[in-house]
This record gives sequence, structure tokens and C-alpha cells, in this order.
Amino acid sequence: MKKIKVNLEQNSYDIIIGSNLITKFNEFSGGFIKDGKAFVITDVQVAKHHLEPLKASLEKSGIKVFPIILPNGESTKNFEKLEFLLSEILSHQPERKTMLIALGGGVIGDITGFAASILLRGVQFIQVPTTLLAMVDSSVGGKTGINTKFGKNLIGSFYQPKLVLADIETLKTLPEREVLAGYAEVAKYGLLGDEKFFNELDSKITSAAKIFDDEILTYIIEKSCIAKSEIVSQDEKEGGVRALLNLGHTFGHALEAGLGYDGRILHGEGVAMGMVLAFKFSEFLGLCEKGEAVKVENHFKKLGMKTSVKELPKKFTIDEMVGYMYQDKKVADGKLVFILAKRIGETFIKKDVLETDLREFLKSEV
Ligand SMILES: NC(=O)c1ccc[n+]([C@@H]2O[C@H](COP(=O)([O-])OP(=O)(O)OC[C@H]3O[C@@H](n4cnc5c(N)ncnc54)[C@H](O)[C@@H]3O)[C@@H](O)[C@H]2O)c1
Ligand SMILES: [Zn+2]
Repeated sequence: MKKIKVNLEQNSYDIIIGSNLITKFNEFSGGFIKDGKAFVITDVQVAKHHLEPLKASLEKSGIKVFPIILPNGESTKNFEKLEFLLSEILSHQPERKTMLIALGGGVIGDITGFAASILLRGVQFIQVPTTLLAMVDSSVGGKTGINTKFGKNLIGSFYQPKLVLADIETLKTLPEREVLAGYAEVAKYGLLGDEKFFNELDSKITSAAKIFDDEILTYIIEKSCIAKSEIVSQDEKEGGVRALLNLGHTFGHALEAGLGYDGRILHGEGVAMGMVLAFKFSEFLGLCEKGEAVKVENHFKKLGMKTSVKELPKKFTIDEMVGYMYQDKKVADGKLVFILAKRIGETFIKKDVLETDLREFLKSEV
């Protein structure tokens, strides 16, 4: 078992990573549940496998559990489900000390965290992430939110949990494709700021199956949480260095948007491809050592992941790609903002990328 402390001025909390933690959930959460009840918010898929053990563990400590089961999928992060969730909780007389437990992937974590931040102007919440992406990314950093017809995550808040409990046992029921998508965010931490970590991943994780090794999983989750929490501690509200976490995301979001968020590309799959593109683009602009992009590409290829836009089930045009990039949040004063690389492990923010350069680069990529 590993414990990481996320240091934020008034909102510090622990991330605990290990095996079979859900069955002993009460041993970790006890001190945080102060009114004898807890709302466990989860989705139908996760509930099938992981709700009962969590509930049983809390009940063992005499805590009354109110499960709230939402549909699974990105579309759950909307106003309607938020209203349903808040109303369910309000019908049971919550207080500010009331605890919400988010049991699920990033979707459940984001909507529950947001609900916790606005219910009674703030109640308590604990994250129990059950996807690799949620363990290494969405449960760390305090961003919460929902989507609207105007775009993803446009309504939300910064709100920190009391505790994050990552039980790697839960990943055994997660489809391999979802695990690989989450893994892209793990590799991201190496690529954006830790060459040694990337090299370690490259030598240890030589096939998708290797990721499922308990020791490797614990290690990569720990390293990722430390990397993200260090960045977040330096920049809680995203004014500077936190932007590096968007490596690969400007390209990735364009690919996700182009495919209509219909499941043909998962977020992490877009990010993996986007990071390859970011390294290639950096080399194209003469800002990155030659040969780095190929290393990044080969790493994801070994795991069986797609690395080229041309492999996607839809033909992208340059106009379309550029159009989606302008719609992305990472546009400042009409200029395209990219996270680019000098080499693996060293990245920087470039706020004045020329559209003509981008178009020229994309000619050989789409
Ligand atoms: N808050 C942040 O900082 C942040 C960062 C990155 C991503 N996100 C958000 O996270 C969301 C994506 O998260 P995600 O990839 O975890 O998706 P998700 O929550 O939709 O989970 C993916 C799928 O896996 C299923 N699932 C989850 N855990 C399972 C398990 N253990 N066994 C079997 N099935 C399981 C879910 O039911 C769902 O169908 C997006 O909405 C994104 O915006 C937030
Ligand atoms: Zn991401």
C-alpha cells in the first residue's frame, strides 16, 4: 500500500493506492464520516462489481449507506443527472458534514465532486476511482464539472476531496481498451517532465498485458499521482505550469470532437495520438531534438495503440482539424496554444503557434 500526501494550503488530503482497499474501506474513511451516513454515487457498470463490498464495509461500522446509481457514460455529466443527484441527496436531510463517495471513473468523480461543491455550499466527498484514468488523472487536482451543449466541462468548480482511495483490484473488471486509454495519461507524465520515468515505462511495459501486473500498476499510479499533485500544488487554479498537463490534448480533443464522442475514440486514445503529433509538430518546427517523436510513437505501438490519424475510422481534413483546435479551451486571444517539446521529459507552453505552420504540418498527418 502506498500513501501520497497532496499538499494544498487548506485542502491537503491523502491518496491511498493498494489492493483490496474497498473491502476495508471503513478503516480509511472512518474519521471523515461524521453524521453516520454516506451517499455512494456510482454508475450501473461499476455498481455491478464494486458497490456491494464498499457498502458492506461501511455498514460494518454502523454507517447507513444510500447508493445512488447513475447510467454509465459521458452523457451522465449533464444538468439533468446533476439535478437528480442533488434532489436524491436533499430528500435525505444532508448537512455540511455529510459525505458523498464517488465510486467510479472520471464521469462519476466529476459530477459527484461538483455536486459536493454546490450542495449546501459544500459538503464532504471521497473519491474511489475505478478506472486507470480516474486513478492517475481525474481524481487528482480538484477539477469537477459537467458538460453542456456548448462543450465539455464548461460548468464546474475546483473542489478537493477529503481522501482518494485507489483500489487496483477494481481495474481487473475494466475492459483492456479503457485501461490502455488511461495508460496514455501515465505515459504523459514521463513525456511532459520526467525522461527517466518514460524510459522506465518503455523498458518495463513492452505489451498491454504488462500494465496489469499489480506491482507495475501500483508503481505507475503512485508516480503519476505524485507528478500530477506536484504540478497541481504549484498551480492549483491553472495559471501556469498546470497547462503542461495538456500535452497532446489540443490535437486529441480535435480528434475526439471530430468523431463525435461516440466511443470510436476514447479520450486517452486521442491523447496518445495527440502526444505523438505534439512531438512530431515540435520536430517540424525545429524546436525538438530529432528522433524523439519516433520513440514516443513506438512506445504506444508496442501496446497495440493507434498512433496515426490515418488509422482512425474517419478521414479528417486540415480545415476540420484546425477548426476544432480553435474551439478548444486552449485558445488565448485567438492564437493557438500548444504544449510542445524540446525532448522527451522537457516540454513548454507555446502561445503563438502560427496557423500556417500548423496547416503545413498537418498536410502529411491527415
Ligand atoms: N477532473 C479532472 O481533472 C479530469 C481529468 C481527466 C478526465 N476527466 C473526465 O473524466 C471522464 C472520463 O473518465 P473515465 O475514462 O474514467 O470514464 P468513465 O467514468 O466514463 O468510465 C469509463 C467506462 O468504464 C466503466 N467502468 C468504470 N470503472 C469500471 C470498473 N472498475 N470495471 C468495469 N467497468 C468500469 C464505466 O461504467 C464507463 O462505462 C471525462 O468526463 C473527463 O472529462 C476529468
Ligand atoms: Zn486527459
